[in-house]
Formats: sequence, C-alpha cells, structure tokens
Amino acid sequence: MTQAKKMSRRQFLLMAASTTVVAGGGLTYLTVRQPEIDFATITCNANSNGKKILVAYASQYGSTSEVAEAIGEVFCGGGTAVDVLSITNVTDLSGYDAVVLGAPIQSEAWKPDAVTFVQTHEAALSRIPTAFFTTSMTLGLAGNRPEIRQQIDSHLDAVRAQFPAVQPVDVGHFAGALDYSKMSFAMAQLYRAFAEDDTDGDYRDWNAIRSWATAVQPKLLSV
Ligand SMILES: Cc1cc2nc3c(=O)[nH]c(=O)nc-3n(C[C@H](O)[C@H](O)[C@H](O)COP(=O)(O)O)c2cc1C
Repeated sequence: MTQAKKMSRRQFLLMAASTTVVAGGGLTYLTVRQPEIDFATITCNANSNGKKILVAYASQYGSTSEVAEAIGEVFCGGGTAVDVLSITNVTDLSGYDAVVLGAPIQSEAWKPDAVTFVQTHEAALSRIPTAFFTTSMTLGLAGNRPEIRQQIDSHLDAVRAQFPAVQPVDVGHFAGALDYSKMSFAMAQLYRAFAEDDTDGDYRDWNAIRSWATAVQPKLLSV
C-alpha cells in the first residue's frame, strides 16, 4: 500500500505466492479458503433516455462491488437502463452505450483482472464513453486530499500507457473498505504482517460516490 508500506509490491506478491505454495493439503484449504462473499448482479430496466450503461467491477472482498451497485442505482434513478456485473460475467460490450469499470487498488496497482478487462475490450472501450473508478484504503486512512488522490491516480498510469486509445471521460477515486473477516486466514495474516498501516474499517463515502455518479452520467451519455 502506498508509501506507508514496509514492503514493496513485488515482495508482497512473492510472499503471498510462497505462502500459498508452502502450505500443503488440507491445511492449504483451511488457510487459503476465502469466506463466501456476495457480489452484485443487478439489472435496471429504466429507459427514459433509451440508453444502457454497464457498470463492471472487479472486487476481491465485495466492497468495490457495493460501490458499483451504488453507482448503478444513481444511473437507474436518472432514467438509464443499467447492468451492474462482475467483470467475470461480462463477455460482450455490444448493447451498451457506455461503460464504467471499477476495481480496487492492490499493491499499488489496479487489480490485474481489471487491466485484463481493458485489454480484452480495448476496441469497444475506445469507441464508447468509458469511466474508471478505484477503491483504496489509502484514501480512507491518509485522507481524501488532492495529493492523495493524485497518488492513487498514478497507480493507473500503467493502464493509460498500455491502452492510450481508451480515454476515460472521468476517473473516480474512492476510499474503500477492509474487513479481515472476509479474507482467508493466510491473506489476513499476510496483510497484518506486511502492510505498515493494517487498519481495517469501512471508509466508503456514499455521498461522494453518488455525487460522482450523478456528475459522470451526462458525460457518459453525451455522445
Ligand atoms: C492484497 C491487498 C493489497 C492492497 N493494496 C493496497 C494498496 O496498495 N493501496 C491502497 O490504498 N489499498 C490497498 N488495498 C486496500 C483495497 O484497495 C481496499 O480494501 C478495497 O476497498 C478492497 O476492495 P474489495 O473489497 O472490492 O476487494 C489492498 C488490499 C488488499 C487485500
């Protein structure tokens, strides 16, 4: 996590991988088993403007899924048809007039499957209005200040460099949530051991999330 971490992203990933490999058999199951988490799958059929937005998200522990849900509710309330789906359930972007893609920051980068989603759907995302959002603990713990948002935003530089044709109409950065009870035993121990600030808690600011959604909706639908 951000500057406050004791170990680099590479060290963290290596440690996570080696712990998984070292643990064996049934112990592995107990150690790495992640509790069941509900991920949002929502369809809203409002159609006062005849448009449909996909809010696609990557989420490991569910907090980003709930942020996507809140964004979808705002769009729906604004009269737009909406699907809120995990990126694992999205194969095709045809039929959508705009896309919002959200994912947490993990080890100072956007969650890798979100980046893979951009890669897979690069052509469509270059054509239709797209917005990105992130969730992160740093914005909650260090405060939602411009320099912290800029720090979080820099974690998307690699995505911008890799996919210059995908030009989001906006990028929202939101404080996220960390709940150890949703993690596997192994991940909770790793996080506690190696994150310099291992404070958990729910820092999501629903007013900020809904305000962003309200402001971004016309940008997504302006084409
Ligand atoms: C393995 C891991 C690495 C993380 N790395 C960062 C980080 O580098 N910077 C940060 O601000 N938050 C980091 N976080 C916090 C998440 O971004 C935050 O908890 C987010 O809301 C989680 O979303 P989810 O519940 O949808 O998985 C990390 C969380 C995990 C589990």
